[in-house]
Amino acid sequence: MSHAEKTVSHKKPLIEITKNGPYIVKNIEYLISAEGTALPIQPVMALCRCGGSSNKPFCDGTHNMINFEDSTT
Ligand code: FES
Repeated sequence: MSHAEKTVSHKKPLIEITKNGPYIVKNIEYLISAEGTALPIQPVMALCRCGGSSNKPFCDGTHNMINFEDSTT
């Protein structure tokens, strides 16, 4: 069992949309890239919603630098 598997609880998965920021993803058991590769997971992760991250699918804070604004939150 990997460290990530040990730290992820079996609580209900949640996705929260932050205002002008990333998706906050909690309690997922796995994350697969568009190419089919398993990505590292943490109990709480921020996934890019602005499209500007240099570390997609993860948020790297670029949304703040580009003043990302959404219309959903
Ligand atoms: S949402 Fe944070 S870098 Fe895109």
